[in-house]
Order: sequence, then C-alpha cells, then structure tokens
Amino acid sequence: MVPDFLENLETIRTCVDHNYEIIKLILQDAEYMFENQTQEIMDEDEDVKKTFPTAADMDKVRTTLKQFVRDWSPLGQQERDACYRPVIEEIKNRFPSHQCERSSVKILIPGAGLGRLALEFTKLGFTCQGNEWSLYMLLASNFILNKCREENSLLLYPWVHQWSNNKYTEDQTRPARLPDINPAEIPEDSNFSMAAGDFLDVYTEPDDWDCVATVFFLDTARNVIAYVETIWKILQPGGYWVNLGPLLYHYADMPDENSIELSYEQVKKVIIKTGFQYEKEVMDVKSSYTQSADSMFQYQYNSVFFVVRKPL
Ligand SMILES: C[S@@+](CC[C@H](N)C(=O)[O-])C[C@H]1O[C@@H](n2cnc3c(N)ncnc32)[C@H](O)[C@@H]1O
Repeated sequence: MVPDFLENLETIRTCVDHNYEIIKLILQDAEYMFENQTQEIMDEDEDVKKTFPTAADMDKVRTTLKQFVRDWSPLGQQERDACYRPVIEEIKNRFPSHQCERSSVKILIPGAGLGRLALEFTKLGFTCQGNEWSLYMLLASNFILNKCREENSLLLYPWVHQWSNNKYTEDQTRPARLPDINPAEIPEDSNFSMAAGDFLDVYTEPDDWDCVATVFFLDTARNVIAYVETIWKILQPGGYWVNLGPLLYHYADMPDENSIELSYEQVKKVIIKTGFQYEKEVMDVKSSYTQSADSMFQYQYNSVFFVVRKPL
C-alpha cells in the first residue's frame, strides 16, 4: 500500500547519521571550551552504562537541534522577530548610540540558548554576556559561535525525530541550513562572553549589570521569586530588566522536583514588591518556541513583554 515506506525509513536513517556527524564536530575539542576549566570527555569504550543516554538526554539533544533553527537558521527568522526583536528594539532605544557609549553598557542574557540574542547585542556595540546551564546548549553554542565562520556552511535535519503531524513525507527530513549570518562578524573590540552555570549561582555580585534581558526564561525557575530577587540584586540602580515569554513552568508536574508556579498576576506583584517600577507591559504577544512551520501541529503563546526598572 505504501511502496515508499521502507525507502523513507532509509532516508531518515541517512539524516540521523548526518546529524551524528555534526554532533561529532560539535564535540571535537569541546573539553577546551571553558576558559577556566577542562572537562573530561569519556572515551567511547569507557563504561558504556555510565554514558548510555537517558530519554531525558535524548530530549535535550532534540531540543538543541531545534534551537539551532530558532537561533541560527533563516527558518527561525519569524520566531526571532517575534521573541528577540521587541527586546532588542527596546534596549536599543533606551541606550541610543548617540547618547551613550554602548561598550560601557553591560547586558546579561540568562538562559541564552545558542547565543543569538547575546550576539545581536554585541553587534550593536554593547558589552554582553549570555548565561547557560545546559551542557548541550553550551557545547552547541561554543561550536556555532567559536567555530562556524561561514554563512550557510552547515546542514542539519532538525525535524528528523518528529514522527507525528507531518503533512508531507519529506517534512520529516527537510534540512535546515545555518548559520544565516557569520557569527564571527562582530566589532573588533567587542566584549562578548558566555558563562556556564545556574543563573542563581553564577550571579551574586550586586549592582553589576545595566540591563538583564530574559526571553523564554522566567518559567525555567523552580522558584520564580528567587529569579526576581537575583535580577534585582545584580542590576545597578537605574538598570532595566526586559522580559518576553510565557509561563510554561519547567518543573511543574514533576513529582520529584520542588517548584512553585505563580500566575503572571502573582509574579507581577512580586516584581513590584521587590521594588521594581513598571515602565512597559504588553500582554498577549504572539510567539512560539522551536516550532516547525510545516507541521500540522501549530501552537502559539500569548507571551508577556515587560520592561521594569530598578529605581535610581
Ligand atoms: C526555553 S529555553 C529559551 C532559550 C532562549 N532564551 C530562547 O528564547 O530561545 C530556556 C533556556 O534556559 C536555560 N536555563 C534553564 N534554567 C537555567 C538556569 N537556572 N540558569 C541558566 N540557564 C538556565 C535552559 O538550558 C534553556 O536553554
């Protein structure tokens, strides 16, 4: 009945193999990716049980493949326009280049994913640091930011693990080309870095940042109040916190994880009680996260976008 079925499975296998070649490139020399630490990468034949990936590991690999599209492929442009553009425009307008020396404005991006938003601020002349705790994201962002030097030099099959909601057979094996820009093309004297670790552990220095920009990050918290308090602490007086995203709490419904899930109304009360002043609030910002435009399954977040300020 379906004569191309087995042939298609073969095509899928070829795409998976291709992705694996890219993953091997990502892992090459990855033990040297930290400036202040070396990470031991196990040999393949070392205790296989220890390294055998869990379902959660595989899920993270799939998410990372899709994050490549969101951050670095022309196919992710629509998501970047919806999620990153408003944040970039807002910060650009608050720190106009004719009124301030942008290189002395320090922007922090917690939960930076594969670093695109952080790179965009660097290109605009700001001093910018992305922060990530997922080793999967860190390995992949190290690869794209430090090793890719040419537009469209990579081919990935980000949807190859998507077995449902394919309209056409080839939707599953459709490639994504990346990066859409050369990540190395940043001003020569740029101050751009990525810092590894849990946002709550890494950032303890008070009054250190002029701006914190969070996109699809707030809901990664076990305790969102701790995020709000940390942002308050690390911002300089007069500093801005710009946020865009939904509240899809990552640890909700996980029996072994402690987590509190506040509504946006409650989060807003916490933000105000902490001392922040609201300067802007836009509800229902239509946005999505690592979605395939071809899939029969489409969803949309009504995200909240806000700008709050720590008073001078
Ligand atoms: C939903 S993703 C959003 C990524 C990116 N901001 C974007 O909009 O595409 C959330 C990211 O935050 C990272 N993350 C979660 N908890 C974190 C924490 N406590 N500290 C630093 N990064 C964290 C995750 O690894 C993930 O890459």
